[in-house]
Amino acid sequence: LGRGVATPDLAGRHVVVSAGGTREFLDPVRFLGNRSSGLQGYALARAAAARGAEVTLVAANVTLPDPAGVKVVRVSTTAELRDAVLSSAAAADAVVMAAAPADFRPTAVSEAKIKKADDGSAPTLELTQNPDILLELSSHRSRPESVVVGFAAETGDESGTILEHARAKLARKGCDLLVVNDVSGGAVFGSPENEAVILAADGEPVPVARGSKTALAHAIWDQVRGRL
Ligand code: CTP
Ligand code: CA
Repeated sequence: LGRGVATPDLAGRHVVVSAGGTREFLDPVRFLGNRSSGLQGYALARAAAARGAEVTLVAANVTLPDPAGVKVVRVSTTAELRDAVLSSAAAADAVVMAAAPADFRPTAVSEAKIKKADDGSAPTLELTQNPDILLELSSHRSRPESVVVGFAAETGDESGTILEHARAKLARKGCDLLVVNDVSGGAVFGSPENEAVILAADGEPVPVARGSKTALAHAIWDQVRGRL
């Protein structure tokens, strides 16, 4: 985008960004996790701060340094992420869910470390579905004029193309914008680059050419800014 000094077009705005991947514990030492690095969420937080916004970054298990001038709230599980995002969203103009919450958690968390059985058998995990934070944000807006943005990592399959899945997800979640990544092959995880299409509930899709996660972050804020 060639932004040298960013225009402070988000000055006076409060935005919330979630980043990273949640962990769902089985016992004190083990968890179910995912491959989200937090890089895109951190790029979004830095870009918004550079454009003058007051930024709250809810970071789930991210090993990156805190961005300057950003309030960072560290969480681990999806339940903690939900509490932190919903409470900070109450006063926000925009919320961007770049985090990857685990879809499922073990139904029970063992207080003691689970031991191996002598007979070579393995435990069966019973899982419970986690609450959908983006759906809650979209459907119970404390400020109806706020802008809610989701991310979708999709692959095409026999039931539809990437964009068909993404359109359905945008409608199901009720968010204003959905940033769609093609994750066939796992290429985006931990990569400094990203390529995406920004789908809008109220307009044409905006393709964003392959480039830095910072460039994608600014393209997302451009779309948010136009709706504030
Ligand atoms: N999301 C969320 N809460 C969840 C799961 C997902 O807020 N429990 C958000 C993610 O942060 C992302 C968007 O929803 O912004 C889409 O996530 P995705 O995993 O693609 O959607 P799911 O509804 O979980 O659908 P899928 O079955 O494809 O994983
Ligand atoms: Ca999911």
